[in-house]
Amino acid sequence: MLFASVNKEDVKARIDKLTELLNQYNYNYYVLSKTAISDFEFDALLKELDTLENEFPELQNPNSPNLKVGGTITKEFENVKHKYPMLSLSNTYNEEELNEFDTRIKKIIGEDYKYVCELKFDGLAISLTYKKGELYSAVTRGDGTHGDNVTANVKTIKAIPHKLKPGNYPDEFVIRGEVFMHRATFDRLNEKLKIALEAKGFDEDEIQEQLYKNPRNFASGTLKQQNSSEVAKRPLDAFLYFLYTDNSIVETHYESLKKASEWGFQVSDHFKLCNNMSEVFEFINKYESERKNLSYEIDGVVIKVNNFLQQEELGFTAKTPRWAIAYKYKAENVSTVLEKITYQVGRTGAITPVANLKPVTLAGTTVKRASLYNADEIERLDLHENDTVFVEKGGEIIPKITSVDSEKRLSNSKKINYINNCPECETELVRKDGDAIHYCPNESACPQQLIGKIDHFIGRRAMNIDSLGTETVAGLFKKGLIKTFADLYDLKAEQLLNLEFEVGEEDIKKRSLKIKSVENILSGIEKSKQIPFERVLFALGIRMVGETVAKKLSKQFRSIEKLAVASFEELKDIHEIGEKIAENVVNYFAQKSNLELCEKLKLHGLKLEISASENANFSNTLQGKSFLVSGVFSKSRDEIKNQIENNGGRNVSSVSKSLDFLLAGDKMGPEKIKKATDLNIKVINEQDFLEMLT
Ligand code: IVH
Repeated sequence: MLFASVNKEDVKARIDKLTELLNQYNYNYYVLSKTAISDFEFDALLKELDTLENEFPELQNPNSPNLKVGGTITKEFENVKHKYPMLSLSNTYNEEELNEFDTRIKKIIGEDYKYVCELKFDGLAISLTYKKGELYSAVTRGDGTHGDNVTANVKTIKAIPHKLKPGNYPDEFVIRGEVFMHRATFDRLNEKLKIALEAKGFDEDEIQEQLYKNPRNFASGTLKQQNSSEVAKRPLDAFLYFLYTDNSIVETHYESLKKASEWGFQVSDHFKLCNNMSEVFEFINKYESERKNLSYEIDGVVIKVNNFLQQEELGFTAKTPRWAIAYKYKAENVSTVLEKITYQVGRTGAITPVANLKPVTLAGTTVKRASLYNADEIERLDLHENDTVFVEKGGEIIPKITSVDSEKRLSNSKKINYINNCPECETELVRKDGDAIHYCPNESACPQQLIGKIDHFIGRRAMNIDSLGTETVAGLFKKGLIKTFADLYDLKAEQLLNLEFEVGEEDIKKRSLKIKSVENILSGIEKSKQIPFERVLFALGIRMVGETVAKKLSKQFRSIEKLAVASFEELKDIHEIGEKIAENVVNYFAQKSNLELCEKLKLHGLKLEISASENANFSNTLQGKSFLVSGVFSKSRDEIKNQIENNGGRNVSSVSKSLDFLLAGDKMGPEKIKKATDLNIKVINEQDFLEMLT
C-alpha cells in the first residue's frame, strides 16, 4: 500500500483539484482549440490522478476526465421521455419557399424581427440536461417524444462538459445539439476497419456492407455502442445550438448561444445575426461554397427567428417549430463522361449494369464507377454513348448518375440499348413480369454464376473457408478443378501444388500455389465439415435464403431431407417466410442437380441436419408465442432470445397488442411495463420463463 499514512481529506482535495485542472485543460484544448500546457505536463497531472484514483477509487470525482474515456458497459439504453419534445425542422431546397417562410413570419409578428443563421450539422441530435451545472443526462432524439439514454457514451465526448464553468445558468436546463464525426476521423477509422476486415478474410462485398457509409452513419453507430470504452476509441465531436430554460436568462437566441459558449459549451463560430432576407441569402451562399473547407459535413443552413417571445408567438405545428426552417443544400454533384457500361453477373444470375466513368473528384474521393441498378434506370436517364453525366454522392458510398447534360451530347451518339445476352455465357437474358432485374437463366453452366456460388459458399458467414479467396476460387474453376462447391471436397494436394492461374482484373498477375497455401486450403475445407446445418443451408445460396431465413428453416425442419420435401403452403405459413421465399425454396429442391449437390455434400460428411446435441435444445413448447425480452438477466439477452427461438417462439422488438409475453429482467424501464400492463399483456420474469420450458 503506497499511501498507508496519508490523510484521506488531503487526497480527496488533490483528486478534486486535479479533476478540475484537467477538465479545464481539456476544455481549452477541445473546445477553444487552445493549448495551455504541454502534453508532457498534462500527462504528468493525468498520471498523478490515475494513481490516486486507483488507490482510492471511492474518492474519484464523478467528473473525472478518466470517466471521459469510457469504460461503462450499458446493458440496454433506458428509454427516457423528453421534457421538450425533439421536433424536426421543415425543409426547403429553394429560395422561393424560403421567401414564403419569411412572408408567413411577417404576417404573424409584423416587421420587427431578426434571424439567426446557423450551419445545419449533419450528425445526430442530442438533448443534454444539466442539473446544478453538471451533466445529468444525454438522450437521443428517438421518436421525438422518447429517446435512448446514452449518457455514458456522451461522457466520452470531450467537447461536452461534465461540469459547467461558473455562470448564471439555471439550476436545471436542457440544451440541444448535434453529435458528429470529423471527415478525417471517419476516413481514418473506416480505413482501419477495412484493413481489419480484409485481414479477417471478408470479401469485397462483405467489406463494403460493413464499412460505414458516411461520417453521420459512423457517428450514429458509435453513439449506439453498448460499451462506452468502444465509443471513446472513435472520437466524436459536438456543437450545441439550442437552449431550453423555463425562465429565460436572455431574450434572444443569439444571446443564448453566446451564454452557452461562456458556460463551457462548444458553439460553432459560424453563425450570424441577420437583419433581412438578403443577409440570410448571403450567409447561405457563403457556406454553399465554403462547406467543402469545413472539417465536418453540413447539409444546409438553419434559419431561426431570434427573439424568444416572437418564437413563442409563432409556436409550433404538430411536427416543427414555425419560427425556424432548414435550407438544405443539394447533394454535391459533378459532371463527367460516361466511358462505357459493363454488366456484372451475380451468383443468382442477376445482372447489374455499372457505368464506367472518366475519373472525377467528388466530395473528396475519386469516382470511377456509378451504379445504374437496372434497365429501367438506363431508360429513365435516356443514356447515350459518351454522354456527359451528372454524378451525385448521397448517403451511399457508390455514387449515382442523376441526369445527363443533354447540351453536351454529341449529335451522332447512339442510344444505349440494354444487353440481350449474358456477357459471360451468351445465354439470352430473361426478365420476369414485374421484376426490374434481368437474369441469366443459365444457372447450371454460366461460369460467373458458378464461381459466384462457390464464392458465396466459402464466405465467412457461410462455410468460412478463409484459406480460399475469390481469386483462388476463380482460378480453380478456370483450371477445371471445380465446377460446384461440392467439388471442393474432392480436391487433392497433388492437384493444387504449384498450380498456376491468373489473378486481377485490370492488372493481371500470375499466381502459383505453394505447399503452405495448399495445406491451408485443404485443412480449411476439412474443417468446414463441422459447420452447423443452419450455415450449410445458408451456404447453398438458395435465392432469398439469407442467414436469418436459413436459421429459421433449419430450426423448423431440422434436416435437409425434411426441408427438401416441404410444400409451398407449409413453408409460407412459417412466420416471416412469405410466399416469395417459399417459392424459391420449392423451386430449388425441384431441380435434380441441386438434390444431387446436397447428396454429394452429405456423402462428404457435411452437416445436413441438426446435431443430436442441438436437437436436445429444441422443442415446440413456445410455438406461436411472441416475446419481448428486456432488462438484465442471469444470462445474456441473446442466450434467452435463442432459447425462445429454439423452442418455437418468436422475438419481437416492441410492445404492441399482439405481444404475448413481456419477459422482464432487472433494471428495465418502467415505461415498457406500464405500456404492457395497459394493453393487458402478461409480464413474466426469468423464473416464469424457465418454467414454461419444462
Ligand atoms: S435547431 C427546435 N439547429 O437538423 C430546435 N437543428 O432537420 C430544432 N440540426 O433534428 C433544431 N444543425 O438534428 C437546429 N444548427 C442547427 C442544426 C440542427 C443540425 C439538425 C437537428 C434537427 C434536424 C432537423
